Amino acid sequence: MERLTSPARLMIVSDLDHTMVDHHDPENLSLLRFNSLWEHAYRHDSLLVFSTGRSPTLYKELRKEKPLLTPDVTIMSVGTEITYGNSMVPDHGWVDTLNHKWDLGVVKEETSKFSELTLQAETEQRPHKVSFYVDKSKAQEVTKELSLRLEKRGLDVKIIYSGGMDLDILPQGAGKGQALAYLLKKLKSEGKLPVNTLACGDSGNDAELFSIPDVYGVMVSNAQEELLKWHAENAKDNPKVIHAKERCAGGIIQAVGEFELGPNLSPRDVSDFLECKVENANPGHEVVKFFLFYERWRRGEVENSEAYAASLKASCHPGGVFVHPSGTEKSLIDTIDELRKHHGDKQGKKFRVWVDQVLATETAPGTWIVKLAKWEQSGDERIGCTTAVKFTTKEGEGLVWKHVEQTWSEESKLKDDSSWII
Ligand code: GLC
Ligand code: MG
Repeated sequence: MERLTSPARLMIVSDLDHTMVDHHDPENLSLLRFNSLWEHAYRHDSLLVFSTGRSPTLYKELRKEKPLLTPDVTIMSVGTEITYGNSMVPDHGWVDTLNHKWDLGVVKEETSKFSELTLQAETEQRPHKVSFYVDKSKAQEVTKELSLRLEKRGLDVKIIYSGGMDLDILPQGAGKGQALAYLLKKLKSEGKLPVNTLACGDSGNDAELFSIPDVYGVMVSNAQEELLKWHAENAKDNPKVIHAKERCAGGIIQAVGEFELGPNLSPRDVSDFLECKVENANPGHEVVKFFLFYERWRRGEVENSEAYAASLKASCHPGGVFVHPSGTEKSLIDTIDELRKHHGDKQGKKFRVWVDQVLATETAPGTWIVKLAKWEQSGDERIGCTTAVKFTTKEGEGLVWKHVEQTWSEESKLKDDSSWII
């Protein structure tokens, strides 16, 4: 969070399963639309927070399966674990507050007396979260009875039912809502309270997110019955919470537009972005648009025309160099010629490209370095590399690509890199 020196323009706090991630869309289209929008218009001055029920183990699995961006803050295990940055540094201060009237042993002992409860996987049992599966028809009754018994044992817990099957037991002070309130308080104390915050969710454990004051909320169109019921009973007159018409990440983009929180046109929704010149040419924008163009080129979704190649070459410095992640160097102009040969080679195939953590720094007047992670999914294989692009500005002609350098990401090092173009 130190990355930002002033309050975030927008902080998005989103659930993952069935909110950011649409498990019914193998193409991940709405997620990819969100990703491009975020990197294009928000990454540099806003905060992305993921708030999931998943434990760190299952969260990391999801990151491998889906094209998720890297968030600034990761809240896991239903608001019981908060971590910061890429290296996921834990917030120990938050954990300390959760021990109040909480005893894992007692929770395990009391729950073992309920035959209706089936324990979830070992990875999902956390220091401040005990999780079960329970049939929808039994959920209410079990929750009531269990609350009474744990109260009698001196504990103060919160029992949350989600997705029509999951039952989580947490300390009263935990949960996604409390974790968000804690984060907002922390940001405020640093003088960095976000200008706007948007909470996004689909199921029972997200309900709390929508009761935090001054926070906008979106329940995606595919929200679960238990969340819609909670909303009807508790928040239906709150104009800051909407039920989107679109599914998952599409609903998040819709809410950004409806609440007027900032730009809501994803570059993926623009068909010819080479034509759409922005007023203040920003080097980060150039990179997002280029890699989107690259995806479309290889998928054969843009015409194989001279005009495109000429326009790309015109934006490169004649002496510009590209350092391939394998270490080989070639000129940027040759790299474009290479790319031309690959037009449509991924047509009809599973092929997607996305960029993550696009950050531009002006290193000298008129000179910019843009750093990012570039990912390519081809069939079932995914490879990624860190990329640094140096731009200079040419009087009246905007940005010029001067130097591009790539290095394999840790997990991509041993993979076959022969088909990597840029
Ligand atoms: C995630 C967690 C699970 C939890 C559920 C609802 O699926 O893996 O343990 O019960 O979210 O919060
Ligand atoms: Mg969910």
